[in-house]
Amino acid sequence: MTGKISRAFIDAVLSRTSLVEFIDSHVSLVKRGANYLACCPFHHEKTPSFNVIPDKQFYYCFGCGASGNAISFAMNYLRKNFVESVEDLASRIGLEIPKEAGLNQHNHASYQQIYGFLDEVSQCFYQNLQKNAQALAYLQNRSLTQQTIDHFQLGFAPDEWQHLSKVFPRQQKVLLDTGMLVKNDKGNIYDRYRGRIMFPIRDRRGRVIGFGGRVINPEHQPKYLNSPETPYFHKSNELYGLYQVQKLAPESILIVEGYMDVIALYQHGVNNAVATLGTATSQNHIQTLLKSAKILIFCFDGDNAGRKAASRALTICLPLVHDDEVIKFMFVPEGEDPDSLVQKQGRDLFYQEVNNALSIDAFLLKELQQEASPHDTAGRSKFIHLAKPFLSSMRKGALKELLLNQIAQIVRMDRDRTLQLMEGSEGQAATDVMPIQQQTRRQHTMPSAMRIAAALLTQAPDLFVNVSQQLNYGLLKECGNPLLIEIMKFISQGAQTTAQMIEHWRDNEQYDVITKLAIMPLNLPKEGMEAELIGALKKIEKNTLQNKIDQLLYKANIESLSMEEKHILQKMIKQQKTSLSS
Ligand code: CTP
Ligand code: MN
Repeated sequence: MTGKISRAFIDAVLSRTSLVEFIDSHVSLVKRGANYLACCPFHHEKTPSFNVIPDKQFYYCFGCGASGNAISFAMNYLRKNFVESVEDLASRIGLEIPKEAGLNQHNHASYQQIYGFLDEVSQCFYQNLQKNAQALAYLQNRSLTQQTIDHFQLGFAPDEWQHLSKVFPRQQKVLLDTGMLVKNDKGNIYDRYRGRIMFPIRDRRGRVIGFGGRVINPEHQPKYLNSPETPYFHKSNELYGLYQVQKLAPESILIVEGYMDVIALYQHGVNNAVATLGTATSQNHIQTLLKSAKILIFCFDGDNAGRKAASRALTICLPLVHDDEVIKFMFVPEGEDPDSLVQKQGRDLFYQEVNNALSIDAFLLKELQQEASPHDTAGRSKFIHLAKPFLSSMRKGALKELLLNQIAQIVRMDRDRTLQLMEGSEGQAATDVMPIQQQTRRQHTMPSAMRIAAALLTQAPDLFVNVSQQLNYGLLKECGNPLLIEIMKFISQGAQTTAQMIEHWRDNEQYDVITKLAIMPLNLPKEGMEAELIGALKKIEKNTLQNKIDQLLYKANIESLSMEEKHILQKMIKQQKTSLSS
């Protein structure tokens, strides 16, 4: 391998690698809250202080300060060089380092072969199922008919280590590339799916692009196993069942959590359900679905995880929905899922529950009222504060207007005043900034807005896209802090994770600063980060504007300003006034 690996390829590898899985295959990790913990592999210790933070795709040891992304881990722990590290990580997710230009065409051809091949694999699994009494019994036990099995082309991977190698003896490479075979650290190659019911996953054109596999022996783990990410299989783009559903051009689509939910609903005549592939609902999913139907109904499990997933989906949908589109939320009772519910009570009662689904605005207001009970002044002011980022994320239009009216009623203010509070910076209550201030008082250093903004952007770069509309990027770029400017620039070019940020600065003198920013404790709840970031960046905007005004005023004092400078000064003073009065 000679030549330079492209930045885009490195980014792709980092964004598709699961750091937790990767590190866990070398150092056993234990889940602790949102993060994972182990005794540090880089220094000797008895109590664990080595943290892997999945959100950031970043690890850090509080004991010795070792830190980095997946590439750093491969370099420092596995002692590989940079290119080997990227190569290794890429092959784990079925990617190969592009050798030279012109590769796209070549890849395009091979994609076609891959689709065709996965179809053959799927047929092989289907045949296996038909021959395997135990697997058939499992599905019959779950009340599936042969017609349903055929509709979804369900299959079975026998409990053997070399099944696919035997059936496809000359296809080892493509089996490895598609993740059907796994190669372990010792170089042994074996079937990824053993003793599992196989669900072929199709893209919108009906081509098999991957599989989900469910154990039939309840003692085996994990319950579901999905194909790894590859260039033609991105879990956050695909939806199980969409190919079959869109052929019917339904008026509405139900979004459920599991393969078996889609299948059971279908068997009961509810043939418009799709499922995400064990991932959270993404923007991409919603935009895709809205192309197929104007009404989307989320149908979440009635457990804690389901409620969390619903909140997340709400945040993602609000900025996307147009006035002619309807998004609703329903919850199945605690302990049930759509599969069990429709089996128990049948299609008609299930539809009744669908009809009772909450509209997106009703669901938002309900969520907000749970966080801030509007029965007294304090509650109402908190309510406004919480509602603000949601409302401002929405497109202009009737839905937004109607929601505003409802909020005004709840907080008992007139509509115009509520709108002012929602649009201005007044609503940005001090509560946002509290956690950091408290924390910094303890540290006896006051991190500037720039430091906070830089840390937030390094730790959660994806926030920037959401907040950038509310900001004056032109002004921010003149803030005078080269690192912050570079950070914003890098994120606007598409960086999404801390791991990518670290990578961008790897050979740079600012690498250590970026690493420090990545681990700077912010003591902020996740939901508060966006508001905090807006607050910090607005403050920087304000200071930048003030500095520029001061400079010109200073110049005006010692020499005179040109016509152009006077004009700029006037404009800036006007700008300052409007931003103060809003
Ligand atoms: N999932 C996964 N990996 C797991 C568990 C779940 O990818 N270890 C995904 C699968 O797509 C699954 C969905 O999350 O369909 C919902 O999981 P869960 O509610 O646990 O399973 P059910 O769909 O209820 O599956 P079953 O009824 O077969 O137990
Ligand atoms: Mn289930």
